[in-house]
Amino acid sequence: MKKILVTGALGQIGSELVEKLRDIYGDTNVIGTDIRKRAGQSDELPFETVDVTDADRLYSVAKEHQVDTIMHLAALLSANAEKKPKLAWDLNMGGLVNALEVARELDLQFFTPSSIGAFGPSTPKDNTPQDTLQRPTTMYGVNKVAGELLCDYYYNHFGLDTRGVRYPGLISHATPPGGGTTDYAVEIYYEAMKHKAYSSYIAENTYMDMMYMPDALDAIIQLMEADPTNLKHRNAFNISAISAAPKDFAKAIQKYIPDFTLSYDIDPIRQEIAESWPNHIDSSAATKEWGFKAKYDIDKMTRAMLEHIGYKVDS
Ligand SMILES: NC(=O)c1ccc[n+]([C@@H]2O[C@H](COP(=O)([O-])OP(=O)(O)OC[C@H]3O[C@@H](n4cnc5c(N)ncnc54)[C@H](O)[C@@H]3O)[C@@H](O)[C@H]2O)c1
Repeated sequence: MKKILVTGALGQIGSELVEKLRDIYGDTNVIGTDIRKRAGQSDELPFETVDVTDADRLYSVAKEHQVDTIMHLAALLSANAEKKPKLAWDLNMGGLVNALEVARELDLQFFTPSSIGAFGPSTPKDNTPQDTLQRPTTMYGVNKVAGELLCDYYYNHFGLDTRGVRYPGLISHATPPGGGTTDYAVEIYYEAMKHKAYSSYIAENTYMDMMYMPDALDAIIQLMEADPTNLKHRNAFNISAISAAPKDFAKAIQKYIPDFTLSYDIDPIRQEIAESWPNHIDSSAATKEWGFKAKYDIDKMTRAMLEHIGYKVDS
């Protein structure tokens, strides 16, 4: 029986992951935690306020609930990390090492996501291999590469069952994104619905990897359930579903909202980050080692996003 503690559980991924895990493993077997207090959810479902930089608190909550797995999501995302690099280091590295230590002391299975932000300008941009040059130029990227290596270290050195993926930009309708470089790919749907127009802070032809949230959640479950003897890599599996630029989102939206218009007002900080990332990563190691396969392409995702946010899509 799995009993899972999720850190950063009120964020874009955590809020949907906790619900999905509860559907699979049972309501009381998933302990949501976050530095923020939850609002508007049943008090009967387990939730604890935990700051992941407080190692003692994280340890005592994990021990008290007798969990066997930690899914560590609490982090500062790329664009916000560029604004507050020292906070990013303290949270992204301090929180991660605390969570790994709790997992080591209590012998827990461990998951944490890396990101396409772990790549840099010198990384091959197209079909970016699983194992390749990683010299990121952002604080977030520095944190993510160090985090990937740290998770490998805990597996190799302590035999801890660490697993992880490199997520692309995630697109969802349930919880707003938390200050990443690909947030435009969520905002564009809301603005299309409200104003039939969007001004993109990322340039027309800048390609990045993306994924719809249901595929991102399925990937976690599938990887955590995978037979470990099939895993040649353990952490930081490349996974992607869609490689797209703002103009591709506009085209997909115009199939439903023909008079939607896209303009550009480039944010130099996020544009520079985006240009340092790949156009399209190669997910074949994840497919081979644990069967990763995304279900949503940009058209299917666009239809689902518009439907979920209340746009009447004709069948
Ligand atoms: N969302 C994406 O597009 C994306 C892409 C690649 C990787 N990731 C990674 O996935 C993970 C989760 O991302 P997300 O999009 O859900 O982030 P998010 O910003 O939406 O959520 C992060 C959560 O962490 C919480 N938090 C902040 N500081 C904390 C602390 N000190 N202690 C405990 N909780 C704290 C926040 O309150 C928030 O609820 C991160 O590691 C992120 O780097 C996300």
